[in-house]
Amino acid sequence: GPVRVLVFGGSLRADSLNGRLAALVARLVERTGAAVELAHMRDFTMPVYDGDVETAEGLPPGALALRERIEACDAFVISAPEYNASVSGVLKNAIDWVSRVRPQPFKDKHALLASASPSMVGGNRGLWALRVPLEHLGTRVYPDMFSLAKAHEGFTESGDLSDSALQERLADTAASFVRLVEADTRYVCLQRR
Ligand code: FNR
Repeated sequence: GPVRVLVFGGSLRADSLNGRLAALVARLVERTGAAVELAHMRDFTMPVYDGDVETAEGLPPGALALRERIEACDAFVISAPEYNASVSGVLKNAIDWVSRVRPQPFKDKHALLASASPSMVGGNRGLWALRVPLEHLGTRVYPDMFSLAKAHEGFTESGDLSDSALQERLADTAASFVRLVEADTRYVCLQRR
């Protein structure tokens, strides 16, 4: 079957710019023939990690929900906000909770990272910070990343990018990413035979 790609924005805000970028990436990934699931970070709301809570109760429901979605996909796309030149606490906390599961859900998944920000750099520094925990956990983070600068004025009403050349670049990145995931997934299947 087609490769399964989970796409979600990393911000809890209803009107999140990263949520908008995630919705666009989901459409572009779908065009490549992949099976896409779009999620919202609010589906994965969870308390701040506490080892005592983990010992007493295990993972909270929001973390279990994210764990299930990660386990069910071959690849995921996160559109992540940049907070203070780094990854947001919300996302890092979610990664920390889910990383406690065995077998560890992030291992050997593919990830494409994107960001949107009203700033001129588009939140790109946050993506370099987001790579660190994901790569540590064995996720194959795609080398190319996509950052949308001035994102508050970057979208048309239909949810496309106002800059059509930029949207073409995003579509190309999404397509190349899916091709890599497809090739790797086929290779793993052959090895398991
Ligand atoms: C920000 N923002 C921000 N933007 C940026 O480009 N670089 C940064 O370092 C920061 N730092 C930062 C810290 C905190 C605590 C907040 C709340 C915000 C602005 C941020 O990019 C903006 O709020 C985006 O709209 C957040 O993404 P969503 O929620 O629209 O997806």
